[in-house]
Amino acid sequence: MTTQPEKIKILHIDSNHPILWQQLEEVGFTNEADYKSTKEEIEAKIANYSGIVIRSRFDIDKAFLDKATNLQFIARIGAGLESIDCDYAEQKNIQLIAAPEGNRNAVGEQALGMLLSLFNNLNKADREIREGKWIREGNRGHELDGKTVGIIGYGNMGKAFAKKLRGFDVDVLCYDIKPMVGDANAKQVTLEELQQKADVLSLHTPWTPETDKMVNTDFINAFAKPFWLINTARGKSVVTKDLVEALQSGKIKGAGLDVLEYEKSSFENLFTDNAIPKAFQYLLNADNVLLSPHVAGWTFESHEKLALVIVNKIKAVYFESEVVKQEEKRVTGIGGVFFKSENPKALRDWYKKYLGLPTDDYGCSFWWKDTAGNDAMTQWSPFANDTTYFEPSGKQFMQNFRVHNLDRLLERLKAEGVTLVGEPAVYDYGKFGWILDCEGNKIELWEPIDKAFL
Ligand SMILES: NC(=O)c1ccc[n+]([C@@H]2O[C@H](COP(=O)([O-])OP(=O)(O)OC[C@H]3O[C@@H](n4cnc5c(N)ncnc54)[C@H](O)[C@@H]3O)[C@@H](O)[C@H]2O)c1
Repeated sequence: MTTQPEKIKILHIDSNHPILWQQLEEVGFTNEADYKSTKEEIEAKIANYSGIVIRSRFDIDKAFLDKATNLQFIARIGAGLESIDCDYAEQKNIQLIAAPEGNRNAVGEQALGMLLSLFNNLNKADREIREGKWIREGNRGHELDGKTVGIIGYGNMGKAFAKKLRGFDVDVLCYDIKPMVGDANAKQVTLEELQQKADVLSLHTPWTPETDKMVNTDFINAFAKPFWLINTARGKSVVTKDLVEALQSGKIKGAGLDVLEYEKSSFENLFTDNAIPKAFQYLLNADNVLLSPHVAGWTFESHEKLALVIVNKIKAVYFESEVVKQEEKRVTGIGGVFFKSENPKALRDWYKKYLGLPTDDYGCSFWWKDTAGNDAMTQWSPFANDTTYFEPSGKQFMQNFRVHNLDRLLERLKAEGVTLVGEPAVYDYGKFGWILDCEGNKIELWEPIDKAFL
């Protein structure tokens, strides 16, 4: 977009971390706040704004969008966009911006915290001690070690939770409607396989017609073993009444619920009226149930991270022109092919003798010219079988890709949920960073200084 920033008026209808306002102002946008007006009042003036920043105050539906005749973007300070009619907004060319990168770590940590608290009866034991009860056998815990954790919905949040589980000796499975989303932290399986194997189920799906009331009696009974349930996704994906029956029968051994079927879509209140449903009353009295008020993604750190992610994405809408986006190729070529060998020296000698490669102790360097006419190098190297350089990948080979801007690429890959390995390293012949692909193969990324080898 080429509009001048000062012409872009942004309406903030929820309060956020001050860094958001401040940084938008710094680049020249005009900010206005209106945290109090009703939806109707905002609708009456929304045509004056190019952008709106919202958390969860109200739904943005067709009627609202029809009145927002000059709107260019909607930024939601949060992970999901369920409260926005996304299809209609896209038809109107309105860019939708969310910030799952800002609170996914928080959700991953809370899901893990809930699981460990349930496994070890921490909340129950704490309550009992406060009541003067010292019950040890009744608080014997379970260990996560050796269990299978099933994740449904392997996007930002699911991946963040799987990453937190890395230090535990657990098998992590994921089920997702998108193919090929599994990675080194979770193996993608069918729903049936997950239901056969899981000891723990953690939900990380958005609220859609398919996930609405997804966890019901039939779904629960399809699990082969009794299991623990963690829900930090959306309350309406679990039928509370059916969950209660499963808790009573022992099919569900315990539940950690950060979200509830009964909470309002603004997440600010529990009930629309004062009546407490019977199933919820059961949860309130159950020792093996842990409840929290939709705060999995709500940390001091995520407050700031969400604001920063949003501000950067808004800036990108206006300042990152198409030319820049195209110019910035992530990978510019093959930097090297590395593989394990029984006897690297004998192999290097073989390639020298029969294929004429000018090998040295490191293998062989191929020189070529890039499109700008610069000398560029690609390395071919056998490594000893016992090398640890390809770890954590167990594969026999490792690819090295030449990249344009390593720091920026690693930052982007991290934000996109790709697993980074170790810390980047800087040598006089370039910068190196390492990532894993979706099968757990380690890839070396190299921002080369080829002339250092000349
Ligand atoms: N409790 C909190 O504070 C909190 C914070 C952040 C996000 N959330 C919630 O977590 C959920 C996930 O957020 P995200 O940012 O990871 O979303 P995401 O879009 O990155 O990932 C969701 C994944 O679920 C998959 N999916 C969709 N429908 C499915 C289905 N029927 N079966 C299996 N997989 C399906 C999608 O393909 C996607 O990979 C959302 O409901 C979000 O609102 C809660």
